[in-house]
Amino acid sequence: MNQETRVDVVVIGAGVAGLTAALSAAARGLSVTVLTKGRVGAGNETEHAASTHYAQGGIAVVDPDDPDDSVGLHLSDTLAAGAGLTDATAAEPILAGGWTAVGRLIEHGARFDTDADGRLLRTREGGHTVRRIIHAGGDATGARVQASLEAAVAAAPIRVVGEACVTQILLSGGRAAGVEYLGPDGRGVVRAPVTLLAAGGMGHLYSATTNPRGSTGDGVALALRAGAHVADLEFIQFHPTMLYVPGARGRRTLVSEAVRGEGGVLVDADGRSVTDGVHPLGDLAPRDVVARAVTAAMHRTGRPHVWLDVAAVPAFTDRFPTVTAGVRASGLEIVDGRLPVVPGAHYLCGGVVVDADARTGVPGLLAAGEVARTGLHGANRLASNSLLEGLVGGRVAARSAAALVGGRVPDADVPLLPALPARDRRALQDAMSTSVALDRTAEGLAGVEALLVSAPARSQGDRDGIEDANLTLAARAVVAAAGWRRESRGCHHRTDFPATATSWATCRFQFDGEGFGIVEPQPM
Ligand code: SIN
Repeated sequence: MNQETRVDVVVIGAGVAGLTAALSAAARGLSVTVLTKGRVGAGNETEHAASTHYAQGGIAVVDPDDPDDSVGLHLSDTLAAGAGLTDATAAEPILAGGWTAVGRLIEHGARFDTDADGRLLRTREGGHTVRRIIHAGGDATGARVQASLEAAVAAAPIRVVGEACVTQILLSGGRAAGVEYLGPDGRGVVRAPVTLLAAGGMGHLYSATTNPRGSTGDGVALALRAGAHVADLEFIQFHPTMLYVPGARGRRTLVSEAVRGEGGVLVDADGRSVTDGVHPLGDLAPRDVVARAVTAAMHRTGRPHVWLDVAAVPAFTDRFPTVTAGVRASGLEIVDGRLPVVPGAHYLCGGVVVDADARTGVPGLLAAGEVARTGLHGANRLASNSLLEGLVGGRVAARSAAALVGGRVPDADVPLLPALPARDRRALQDAMSTSVALDRTAEGLAGVEALLVSAPARSQGDRDGIEDANLTLAARAVVAAAGWRRESRGCHHRTDFPATATSWATCRFQFDGEGFGIVEPQPM
C-alpha cells in the first residue's frame, strides 16, 4: 500500500454533485478528499473527465419571483416527463431547493447569461411548458459551472487526488469506512466515516454517447458490490440529438435541446417534420418521445440520421458556440443550415437508491448526482433537471455527512481485490447498442445477459481492467432491470411488450456476488 490517509468525507467523482458536496462539507468544517479519474488542473485537455462539463442547455430552476412559473408547474412538467415513476414527494424539495443552490453557485463565481437589464435569460427544452432554463456562455453552461466549482475547490481546504480509480468501498461491520483506489503512484486508501458516491453515469455501455470516457458505471458497480440497492436502471435516456458522424465511436458532440427551444426543427431526409402528430409539444416533447420519433423517421427513410434544421435560430453560432465548435472538431460543417443528428446514450435516470438525505441502505455510504436514484427522474428525466439535482443533492449530502461524522468507525480490512468478470469493451458496447438501446426484446436481452455472465475474470491492476469490470456489472444490472420490466414506459421500450401497464412500479435490485435479486417492487 503506497498511501493511507484519514478524513471525514471521501468523495468519489468531481462533477457538479461531488464538488458541490465537497465545498459544502468543507464549509461545515469537515475534512474532505475528492477522488477523480481526471487529471487535476487538466485545463485545455481535449476531453474533460466530468459529464457536467458537457451539459449544454442549462439549469432548470424556478425563480420564486417569476409570476409565470412556480415549483408546482416545474413539478408537473417533471412528473409528465417521468412517465408515472417520478416520486413527487422526493422531487418537490429537490426542485424547490434549486434557487438557493444556484445562488450559492453564483457566490462561487458562476456567471449566467443575462439581458441588458441584468435579468437571467431563460430558454426552453423538451417537456418544459415555460422558459425556465438558465444558461451560461450560450450553450457552455456545464463547462462554466464546472470551472467555477473547480476554482472554488482549488481555493478551499479540500484535497483532490487526480487519476484515481476507486477499486472498492471498504466495509467495517457492514458500514462504509472509506475506499481503496488505484492512483498514479499505485494503490491508496482513504479511511472515512462518510463515503459519497458522485461518480456519474454509464454512457460508455454503448458504442456512441454524449458522455466523456470515464462514464463507465463505476458508481453503480461499486455500490452493488458494497451491498447497496439500485433501481430504475432500465431507464437509460437517449438524447434525441447527438451529432451524427459516420462510423464514430465513443463520445460524440451533443446538440443541445435548447437549439429546438430557440427555433430549430427536426426533419427527415424528405424534409418532413419528425414529430408531426406525435405529441402536442412537437419537437419539444419529452426526450423519450422525440428520440423514438427520430428513430422511427430513420427506419421510415432508411437513412442513418435525421436533420436538425437550425436556419430559423437567430445568430446560431453565437448562441451555440459549443455545438458549433463540436461540429467543426468532428470535421463537419453546417451545410444549408442543417446538422445530421441521431439519438445517443446520454443519462442514467435511475441509479443507487437514496433517501431524501442522500443516504443509501449501507450506513456511511451516500450518493448524489447522476449515480443516485432519488426518484426525481422516474422513467425519463426532464431536460436540465440534472445540474439542478447535482447542485441540490451535493448540498444535501454534505448536510448528511456532517450528521454522520463523529462516531468512531473501526478501521476496515482492505481485502485483496480478486480478478473480476470483465467483457471486452467493444463487444459489450456493440451488444448493448444492438439489444439494450431504444428497443428491447426478451430474446435480445437474454443474448446480452449470456455474453455478460460468461465474461472472463480479469485482474484489477489498471484503469481499463477496473472500468471493464464496472461496465460488465453495470450492464448486467441494466439488463436484469430491462428484462424484469415487461412493459414499455419512458426510456424503456420493449417491442415484445409495447403497452404501458399501470401495475408496473419501481423495483429495487441487489447483487449477491453472483446474480441479481429483487428487493421489493415499490408502489406507484
Ligand atoms: C441539452 O442541452 O440538451 C442537454 C441538457 C440535459 O441533458 O439536461
